[in-house]
Amino acid sequence: MPPLSDRTRLIASATRRGSGRRPVNPPIERASTMLSDDPALMQDSRPGPVYGLDGGSAARELRAALADLEGASETFLVPSGLAAVTVPLSALLRPGDEIVATDALYGPSRRFLTRHMAERGVVTRFHPAQASTADIMALCNERTRVLLMESPASLTFEMADVPAMVQECRTRGVLTVLDNTWAAGLAFRPLAHGVDVSVQAVTKYVAGHSDILMGSIAVNAPAIGRAIQDTIEDMGWHVSPDDAWLALRGLRTMPLRLEAQFGSALRIAEWLQGRPEVERVLFPPLPGSVGHDLWRRDFEGGAALMGVVMKGGDRSAAHALMRTLSLFGMGYSWGGFESLITYETPQLSRRLHAPGLPGQLLRLHIGLEDPVDLIADLEKGLEAWRAQQDSNLQPPA
Ligand SMILES: Cc1ncc(COP(=O)(O)O)c(C=O)c1O
Repeated sequence: MPPLSDRTRLIASATRRGSGRRPVNPPIERASTMLSDDPALMQDSRPGPVYGLDGGSAARELRAALADLEGASETFLVPSGLAAVTVPLSALLRPGDEIVATDALYGPSRRFLTRHMAERGVVTRFHPAQASTADIMALCNERTRVLLMESPASLTFEMADVPAMVQECRTRGVLTVLDNTWAAGLAFRPLAHGVDVSVQAVTKYVAGHSDILMGSIAVNAPAIGRAIQDTIEDMGWHVSPDDAWLALRGLRTMPLRLEAQFGSALRIAEWLQGRPEVERVLFPPLPGSVGHDLWRRDFEGGAALMGVVMKGGDRSAAHALMRTLSLFGMGYSWGGFESLITYETPQLSRRLHAPGLPGQLLRLHIGLEDPVDLIADLEKGLEAWRAQQDSNLQPPA
């Protein structure tokens, strides 16, 4: 039989579990305290965990299913996507070490480097999001321990040439960490491309219903796994069994949701690209978009988060567009079943290397609604944008 697809494997892992009459889904075991039958067995973890820190059966099943998806020997769970970035960096970096990272990192990951890690003697060298591999490697020196990538990058969607970076880092003894939240472990396989640590915010597509926060960290090297486990224990991180159960429920249907959302997103991106109000759409699967060549070469699918750079305009026009939409919620986050919009220009000013966008930037997440309805809604939003622009251009009476 040929190897099973992700879609099949993510479901088969539920029906293959255990033996005898049993529920499809694992129980939710809310527990801090675990009881033993015999004092001699109290410290023996062979019959099961001695304390509730590991999140119980649901968390164990989720870890196993994510490890299978990521092609990892081990996957760890942490309470948020941000913690999935900060834990490996805390585990791998010591005072005096250096890290190289894209300037276009997810804002809180960037702040972790410039505040928390800097205060602990770790120096970050940020590279412009579209720097060449040679220019990025030129920032490495004998103290560089980690290269942190995020691809596509937050808000501006630049892609990293991951295989080239991995190859260069290997020759220098630099470890690679990739925030793969956009691809959700499905559309891109970091570990298969040689990345040392693949992280994602389970909060987004895995959970898929905008109701929990969680992160996962996938590795293959036992030494890195041990360092991450130690850090999780030292920090006292724990995920709740209820959240693990919801994430596992989300994971079973993630491939279908992503396929539908990606299909709609591509259709909407193409439509937006043809609109006179739009300067450019930042969506690597779209031909002509930033990062398209790398996406075509390395990715097996896509997601539904994109940037839309408007032709000029100002904040009032962006706000008029957003207020007019009835099907896009205004909310920070993405990866759920619902369409969302955010206005992003203020966040870009925090970067060292300005991305040089010519107009206002909106971020769209495309949900599971009918794309025909979403396009009709966006059409009304663009009308409001034009009306606001026109009124801004009127001379005062
Ligand atoms: C690329 C990326 N990584 C990590 C995170 C953090 O996820 P969480 O909100 O679960 O901390 C986010 C959240 O928006 C994100 O966009």
